[in-house]
Amino acid sequence: MEPSKEFMFKYKGFYFGVNTSAEHVASLENFEIKDSDIFIATYPKSGKNGTVSKEEINLPLFNHLIQTIERYFFFLCGFNSEPLNLKPCNISDISVPVVLQIIYVTRNPKDVLVSYYHFSKFITTLEEVPDFNIFMERFLAGKVLASSWFDHVAGWYGHAEDFNILFLTYEDMKKDLRSAVLKICNFLGKKLSEEEIESVVRQATFENMKKDPRANYENLPDDIADKSKGRFLRKGTVGDWKNMMTVAQSERFDEALNEKIKTLPIKITWDM
Ligand code: A3P
Repeated sequence: MEPSKEFMFKYKGFYFGVNTSAEHVASLENFEIKDSDIFIATYPKSGKNGTVSKEEINLPLFNHLIQTIERYFFFLCGFNSEPLNLKPCNISDISVPVVLQIIYVTRNPKDVLVSYYHFSKFITTLEEVPDFNIFMERFLAGKVLASSWFDHVAGWYGHAEDFNILFLTYEDMKKDLRSAVLKICNFLGKKLSEEEIESVVRQATFENMKKDPRANYENLPDDIADKSKGRFLRKGTVGDWKNMMTVAQSERFDEALNEKIKTLPIKITWDM
């Protein structure tokens, strides 16, 4: 089953939502990047940990650093095989002396799939797919927003040497948030006091963020998010796929993706 054109369009090999346009995406390719910019890149539903909108900023992992950070971006796109990668163009020209700081977060793809499925149920600008099997097939075929999970992850890891990237995983952050905070501080060259580190860790826990109306985008209008059907901060666990996927679905998933996953330079944590 093909995704409906009413909800998605394809541009340079990637699926985008109709809340944006090809012109808008094309204009980002000319976006000028500064030395001080920080990019946070993830495939959707990988736990980018916070919200950014014009009006408000709520990024617990970064709150204490924010005074010194001029601007930062969330980046959902990956690299593709077409001539121009979907990212602001002066990143693709590595002769430009921009020392970008990019933080890339991966999450195990079965939990991503399940989180994405629930997300599709309450985000009204995404096509609702009532049947999990259909959604899984689309996900495996990369026919969802941001396209293929594997290509996204493989693309960013494939460029590990080209850019200044800190790779983190959702599961490592869940296991030891404090170490993740220290890694981020170290990567960004920021020194926090013990008290500040504790505070960042406290704010970034799922339990704390779940209570935060901003992290849950509670001010989003009903024609974008039907809050009676779900929320952004849903379960926040590792291995939730086991509650959703049947053995047959899990095997189908493994059959489609496991050989490819073996080629990635990371070990996927499926459960904790
Ligand atoms: P679940 O649907 O499995 O709960 P994104 O922020 O990239 O859209 O990803 C959303 C997923 O990350 C949701 O997963 C959400 O609960 C989880 N998440 C977001 N912030 C989190 C946090 N601070 N700790 C744990 N999980 C978090």
